[in-house]
Amino acid sequence: MPSFPYQEIKPPQRILLGPGPSNVHPRVQQAMMAPVLGHMDPYFYTVMEDIMNLLRYVFRTKNELTFPISATGSAGMEAGLCNFLEPGDVAVIADNGFFAERMINIALRLGVEVIRLDAEWGRIIEPEAIEAALKSRKKVKLLALVHAETSTGVLQPLGEAAKLARQYDALLLVDAVTSLGGHELAIDDWGIDICYSGSQKCISCPPGLSPITVNQKAMDTLPNRSHAVPSYYFDLSLLSTYWIRDKGQRAYHHTAPACMFYALHEALALIAEEGLETRIQRHLKHGAALQAGLEAMGLALHAQAGHRLSTLTTVCIPEDVDDARIRQRLLSDYNIEIGGGLGALKGKVWRIGLMGYSSTEQNILLFLSALERLLAEEGYKTETGAGITAAVQSLRK
Ligand SMILES: Cc1ncc(COP(=O)(O)O)c(C=O)c1O
Repeated sequence: MPSFPYQEIKPPQRILLGPGPSNVHPRVQQAMMAPVLGHMDPYFYTVMEDIMNLLRYVFRTKNELTFPISATGSAGMEAGLCNFLEPGDVAVIADNGFFAERMINIALRLGVEVIRLDAEWGRIIEPEAIEAALKSRKKVKLLALVHAETSTGVLQPLGEAAKLARQYDALLLVDAVTSLGGHELAIDDWGIDICYSGSQKCISCPPGLSPITVNQKAMDTLPNRSHAVPSYYFDLSLLSTYWIRDKGQRAYHHTAPACMFYALHEALALIAEEGLETRIQRHLKHGAALQAGLEAMGLALHAQAGHRLSTLTTVCIPEDVDDARIRQRLLSDYNIEIGGGLGALKGKVWRIGLMGYSSTEQNILLFLSALERLLAEEGYKTETGAGITAAVQSLRK
């Protein structure tokens, strides 16, 4: 035995109402205990085929290239940008939140000229700004937007943006990490060329996989690249040789994380069983109830009205209330995790997620009553039960 101390792993059961991960359904947990198989095992291939079909259902697409990358949501972002951009290209990228900034950061590392679409954190990017940016250069290669900005709670409309991208012959790349499986998203009908997500949010699978879908129009640009894709691991053409059978064959690319694939398979199967539309409606109903409850407690919502996520709510922290103490007490007294503000919103907002398996009536009501008590202890007075009453009224609508 080594001489240093270590513990037996016994994590507490938490109610995950932060910006992700969300809670995992017991069936997903169970699936992770199935026997590990080799990544070239014939049975394992059938699991992969199911995953691709289920992902096409959730993304609402017929794209052949639709599979999870074996890494977290940021991998989808890296892959989406490094396959379709190269030094000297021009990209128009949203600059209205923490994850939008991450996209800009990655694009700059690729030697790309970035035209930033500025908006206050908490507001959408307006179509006029998108059009002005697309028009400002002879050729813009790619337009990148975050559908659900987890740092601000804003839902970016995509319909008009997709039309503009087509009109100016730019590829449209969308970050759907906090929207896939929770908000309306229709890859083919809306005309989105490249879209990625994460397994741990509205899909309610543990973190570690990044579903991505790419249409033929985007794939057809790859042979025109002047430089090889700078990342081996995220090279989509190479990844496709493992995921997509070529004359019945698959080639080794990396050792697939078998247990994660089982988990994603079950999480996606649960979405199919619930029905995607029913699931989206559940998220809408619960998001509205939480927001009604918070407002009835006199709290201000941060995101632009009319463009609020139902999967992630940002609420302004009242003056003289201790941000960290409230979050710590939620965790220690109620086992509830919520998120603090990120980047420019640090210390200004709380981020409350209602995603996938975590998006339940019970969780909303427990959270609102816990928050009411903790706020009262901080000297912030609300009418007793006002939050719960408003949430219940909203749920019964
Ligand atoms: C909108 C958005 N994009 C990208 C990411 C990055 O995903 P990950 O942390 O899984 O790498 C996140 C994570 O929260 C996110 O919310």
